[in-house]
Amino acid sequence: MTLLVLVVVLALAALGLTLAPLLGRRVRGQVGEGNQVGNGSTVPDPDAPERSRLEAEQAALSAELIALPEGVHKPELENRAARVLRALDALPPAPGQRPSPALGALGVLIALTVVAVGAVSFVPRWQLAALNGPEGLAVQSALSLPGLQRTALGSRSQSAYLAWGDAAFTSSRYDQASQAYAGALKLDPKQPRALRRLGIMLLTGQGGMALSDQKQASQAFLLVRTAAQLAPQDPESQLLLGYALNTFGQGNLALAALERYRNLAPQGREADDLIATLQASRDRADPGARVYAANCASCHGAAGFGGLGPNLHESRLSRAALKAVILNGKGSMPAYPQIKGAELDALLTRLERWEK
Ligand code: HEC
Repeated sequence: MTLLVLVVVLALAALGLTLAPLLGRRVRGQVGEGNQVGNGSTVPDPDAPERSRLEAEQAALSAELIALPEGVHKPELENRAARVLRALDALPPAPGQRPSPALGALGVLIALTVVAVGAVSFVPRWQLAALNGPEGLAVQSALSLPGLQRTALGSRSQSAYLAWGDAAFTSSRYDQASQAYAGALKLDPKQPRALRRLGIMLLTGQGGMALSDQKQASQAFLLVRTAAQLAPQDPESQLLLGYALNTFGQGNLALAALERYRNLAPQGREADDLIATLQASRDRADPGARVYAANCASCHGAAGFGGLGPNLHESRLSRAALKAVILNGKGSMPAYPQIKGAELDALLTRLERWEK
């Protein structure tokens, strides 16, 4: 903000100095006073008679030209006016009108400062605005990293470590991100974002932290799962839990977590590809799951663990009783007479497997 004010002030000053000689008589008089020589008299203008003759002629010609009725051209008059203007331009400027070299240099200096300040402060932001959202954010985060790192290591405060870690994570500097989040966890071992992001970086081998064995992998997974338990309503909790479950081959649980993520963040497109892949492989392996997802998941949960409707893993109904509930409905649950044949068989098989 202060930078902006500074730049505006400098720009106005430079503009004023550059335009001053062009502003004519008003300014000329003041600058003329400054040009008084030692004995108190102003510098004489050797071209004064010629200048006033040309100025008078120019005024007369413009008056004539302006007075012409619309649409009427007098090329000869226009040519004379042009010649007079050229002659006026060719005269050396009156001494009082000559911009002082010192002022001119100052103007140039200020203009250069404005350009330089603009180049470092504004241009990158303009360029950033042209990038699309995530890219722009990543570049912006990367630019802020050194400052955030200094602040974090200097203040050793939780929020400073988090700010540093977030910027590093956003710009994919995972080595710095893990250092920052580790710092944040030393101060608060239950900080969900630091937990899950550190966990997912470990799991995916980012930031030079290769996992040496299965035990470390499950510890990394534990970080992500703990974070999801600490902050279940945080979309990123479910998103990273979904990714983590997927790396352990838990497709259906991963899908359930990613669907929770999508419910919490309906605009979130991050997991779309993985969700589609997981859905496709689930449907190949288990056609009943597709019928379930389309008709039942909204009430009984993506993986059947309950929601508006009861947890179906805890149901103990027989295949025939399940079929009756589906076809006739029960309580506030609607009936699904349209589900039949192979679809109904597959759905019943799915429900029976959950009951076991
Ligand atoms: C609009 C929400 C809703 C939808 C959609 C829904 N259910 Fe239900 N379901 C319920 C509710 C509520 C109950 C509890 C009814 C009661 O006991 O009064 C229930 C009960 C059940 C039960 C009985 C569980 C038990 O042990 O008593 C089964 C089985 C079941 N639903 C399966 C399904 C299937 C399969 C689908 C999809 C074809 C489905 N539901 C769709 C809300 C829903």
